[in-house]
Amino acid sequence: MTPLRVAIIGLGTVGTGVAKILLEHPDRMIRQAGRPIELKKAIVRDISRPRDITLPESVLSDDVQSVIEDDEIDLAVQLMGGIDPARKIMLSLLKAGKNVVTANKALLCEHGDELFQEARKQNRCIAFEAAVAGGIPIIHALGQSMTANQIVSIEAILNGTSNFILTEMLDKKRTYEDVLKQAQELGYAEADPAMDVDGTDAAQKLVILTQLAFGTKVNLEQFTRSGIDNLNLEDLEYADELGYKIKLLAVSKLINNELELHVQPTLVKKDRPLAAVDGAFNMVAMEGDAVGKTWYSGAGAGQMPTASAVVSDIIDIAIGRAQLGFDQLDLWQKQKPLPVCAADNITSRYYLRFHIEDKPHVFADIAAILGNNDISLASIIQHESSEDNVASNKSSAVQVPLVVMTHRTSRGNLISADKELEQLSSISAQRICLPVAD
Ligand code: NAP
Ligand code: HSE
Repeated sequence: MTPLRVAIIGLGTVGTGVAKILLEHPDRMIRQAGRPIELKKAIVRDISRPRDITLPESVLSDDVQSVIEDDEIDLAVQLMGGIDPARKIMLSLLKAGKNVVTANKALLCEHGDELFQEARKQNRCIAFEAAVAGGIPIIHALGQSMTANQIVSIEAILNGTSNFILTEMLDKKRTYEDVLKQAQELGYAEADPAMDVDGTDAAQKLVILTQLAFGTKVNLEQFTRSGIDNLNLEDLEYADELGYKIKLLAVSKLINNELELHVQPTLVKKDRPLAAVDGAFNMVAMEGDAVGKTWYSGAGAGQMPTASAVVSDIIDIAIGRAQLGFDQLDLWQKQKPLPVCAADNITSRYYLRFHIEDKPHVFADIAAILGNNDISLASIIQHESSEDNVASNKSSAVQVPLVVMTHRTSRGNLISADKELEQLSSISAQRICLPVAD
């Protein structure tokens, strides 16, 4: 049996997991792929760094050119992360006639077009199951199992790090900084964790899902993107009190032949499956016009779940299945894109949280501004503060939290209200405004 010869470019968290599966389960590889899968090279930046794996002699190298020039290597697993030099290396690997498996969603989001064109030109394929939702086979589900449907909506938790932080903060009252540090140690976070917590990573994954589901290439500047980095524990607790969980939700929906897209921390009713997804788990709730609602959940980040998705792609390429699927994928090919709904026109109910001075007229001023901007109030929470507190602070009024739930309104109305609220000296600068999922 001729082996499939593989090189891993980047032996970090995910690359090490991939190498472990290939080296520890050769029989499983033969059974599933029909032939051996041989790890011929593993490329790193710093060859002297201690590794959590023992590799066969001469596999570890810092010379990526040795992979590009080795005609025996059929497949490169690109697990370097970032855009440069990952993009150049991937183009060179394709030009050298190698199929490529990657988990690099940043690269696919920014340069998928160019990379897919090059793969097609070279009659090679790119497999990327691990790029979205870690171990959940969502790319296969979209590309194979849902093809009888017009996808109507995708609502998803796509960043394991953010979901882990939100869960630990609420359940264990741990600080944001402490949990983020643990997410990095556990291998969930990106090399630059700012991409996890500011919504960029989830948005990159949403761009890929939107391309697959709706055949429309969007870029990150076309939709609202915010992360969990501004939230306080009190927001998670107020949401809890109101019957919701806050989740970093990525949404791509077809409404009146337009795409509604956004990535934002969002209040999700506790009885919805998405609200029950805790820790580094992800979930994709996807609706098709024939099948109706479907849910896919599992580990969205971390070494072995992500390696599971990468190795399944390697096996698909060994069998020849990925090449067939790649040709069929409606990806980055010329077609009429769907229009993207302007962010200001998207409507939702909203959770607003202010810190206000506990004194006469403050709430009346806020309510007037909201009302003047066509925003109707659904409920209000201001917990009673102690009279002593108020009395002892006559000159500088005590700051107290105020939470307002609105009826459905447009984002445009909210932004214009917020500009007026900013002028009120009785409200502190940090104002939180989160959508509520339907
Ligand atoms: P990582 O732990 O930071 O590993 C990156 C690897 O790439 C390291 O081995 C590093 O070498 C190597 N590398 C970086 N620059 C290089 C260069 N110029 N030349 C040669 N080697 C270079 O990253 P990771 O967490 O495994 O993630 C890899 C990719 O998978 C990223 O695109 C990430 O977004 C994606 N991903 C990660 C997860 C996850 O849970 N971690 C899940 C899904 C997708 P050294 O070891 O010598 O530094
Ligand atoms: N940093 C990413 C996350 C890894 O936390 O979800 C998986 O793509």
